[in-house]
Amino acid sequence: MSDNYLTIALGKGRLAKKTMKLFEKIGITCTEMENPKTRKLIFVNEEARLKFFLAKVPDVPTYVEYGAADIGVVGLDTILEENRNIFEVLDLGFGKCKMCICGPASAKELLNGKEIIRVATKYPKIAKDYFYNRKSQTVDIIKLNGSIELAPILELSDVICDIVETGTTLRENGLTVLEEVCDLSARVVVNEVSYRMEYDRITDIVSRLKGALED
Ligand code: PRP
Repeated sequence: MSDNYLTIALGKGRLAKKTMKLFEKIGITCTEMENPKTRKLIFVNEEARLKFFLAKVPDVPTYVEYGAADIGVVGLDTILEENRNIFEVLDLGFGKCKMCICGPASAKELLNGKEIIRVATKYPKIAKDYFYNRKSQTVDIIKLNGSIELAPILELSDVICDIVETGTTLRENGLTVLEEVCDLSARVVVNEVSYRMEYDRITDIVSRLKGALED
C-alpha cells in the first residue's frame, strides 16, 4: 500500500489458479507464478502496477484487514470464520460448495434433540454460530485441521461441520449430509482504507473481473 502498486493476496490452492485465469481474461498475467519450481513469494506485474502473493488461505483476510494487501480473493467460508474488518465486493461464483453438518445417517436424530453433541470442524466459529444462534443447541466443538471426515468414523465426534463440494469424500466414507448451513463461493475482498484511497483503480479491476465472469 506504500507505493503505487496494488497488492493482491491469493490463498494457496485451487482458488488461486482459477483467480489467475480470470485475471488473464482481463489481460493481467503473471507467468512467473505458474512456475511450480519457484520459491518466490511475491510476483510483480510492472505494466499493471500489481503485486500478487500467495498466502495460507485463512491468512488472506488478515493481510487485507491490516492493509498489507489491498485486495484478496478467498472463499466465503474463510471470510465467515475469520470475521475480519474487510469489504466484500464481488462474488466470483466459482469454488461453489456448501457448508454442511454431516455424519452417519443415524446421527440425524441427535440434531433434533437437546442433548449436547460433539461437532468436529475446521470452522469452529461457523459451527458455533450455527448451533448456538440458529438452532439453539448446545454443542461441544472440537477443532481439527483437516480430514474432518475421520472424526465421526473414529467416534471422536457425533457429526462434523465441513465443506461439501462433490460429496465424494462423504460417500466414500459412509457419511451423509444431515443439514445445510450455507452456500459458499469465492469472493473478492478489499481493505477499507484502500477502497477509499484507491477507489478508481480498485473498482476498475473489480468491474473488469465481473465482466470477464459474464463472458
Ligand atoms: C475439503 C472438505 C472435504 C472435501 C469435500 O477438504 O473439507 O473433506 O474437500 O470435497 P468433496 O465433497 O468434493 O469430496 P480438502 O480437500 O480441502 O482437505 P482437508 O480435508 O485437509 O481440509
